[in-house]
Amino acid sequence: MAAPERLVIRRPDDWHLHFRDGAILERVVPYTARQFARAIVMPNLTPPAATTAQIAAYRDRVLAATPDDLSFTPLMTAYLTDKTDPDDLARGHEAGVITAAKLYPAGATTNSDSGVTDIAKIDGVLRRMAEIDMPLLVHGEVTHGSVDIFDREAVFIEEILKPLMERLPDLRVVLEHITTAEAAETVRTGGDTLAATVTAHHLIINRTDMFRGGIRPHLYCLPIAKRERHRLAVREFATSGHPRVFLGTDSAPHPIGAKESACGCAGIFSAPTALELYAQAFDEDGALDRLEGFASLNGPAFYRLPVNDDRIALVRGETVAPGPVVVDEATAILPFQSGETIPWRLEAVE
Ligand code: NCD
Ligand code: ZN
Repeated sequence: MAAPERLVIRRPDDWHLHFRDGAILERVVPYTARQFARAIVMPNLTPPAATTAQIAAYRDRVLAATPDDLSFTPLMTAYLTDKTDPDDLARGHEAGVITAAKLYPAGATTNSDSGVTDIAKIDGVLRRMAEIDMPLLVHGEVTHGSVDIFDREAVFIEEILKPLMERLPDLRVVLEHITTAEAAETVRTGGDTLAATVTAHHLIINRTDMFRGGIRPHLYCLPIAKRERHRLAVREFATSGHPRVFLGTDSAPHPIGAKESACGCAGIFSAPTALELYAQAFDEDGALDRLEGFASLNGPAFYRLPVNDDRIALVRGETVAPGPVVVDEATAILPFQSGETIPWRLEAVE
């Protein structure tokens, strides 16, 4: 069957992204709100959004940055620390302020210094989350310096994730932004309580792309892109129609100066063209008929939320990824594949 020229699907959600705060927040929220009905908003601010009060205040700032003519609901997350108070977390969840809690192993990625130093320290919190059926979102990388950066996800799965899921079989876990064949296989063969998100950029780039003709700091993110065979395995899983893999861009804006630096920050800003990039990947793999499940149905099913009522249309056409997104005189952010053409266009929200 010939691939369609126009694809109408239920409006998608982004199950993992970073908005930051202040002027960057105001500048980037519209890109996401234009496409997605809801987004799981990461809490790795400085200081982190860790308590219900901090998260409620952050939600208000996100809503204030949302254009009035767009319908968009931020779903907020709590940043787990060694000191997280299970009662505060449960109250925030009960009140509808906090959708899920995020585990950053301390030191794993951007703004993770206040993260969890040892998962044993939050055992009480995780037990409580299992009881109240609050999803745990995991940055799945170990942090010991002795583990090669390209192995950190696979080692995390064996050392931390599998024992955790055996200890707490009722806890629902999302392994975020998966990048390896091991992660894809673990989630594919895992039970109902384990899901994964996949970014657009990990469907597109491998580790060699980071060094094509020179070092390309704008392709540096964590987890770091892996070998081609891993990209293909993740892509095969994402486009397979499996019910527990869904869209999470991990769009992570950093000022250009913080990326193009002697010690550049991890994070890829893909929000401006997120849906078009996923459409391109699914189209290339002959899987456009599975894009709606991945983008719009599987996430709500796992989070036990209704699917969105409105629909979007993607058409075969041309979208040029924008140039630098200017925040203020001193700050601009470079979108993923800036200046390149993507052969799909988001036409309308219906
Ligand atoms: C994210 C960020 O910049 O906040 N960076 C990234 O490379 N993905 C953090 C994260 O999700 O690891
Ligand atoms: Zn992230």
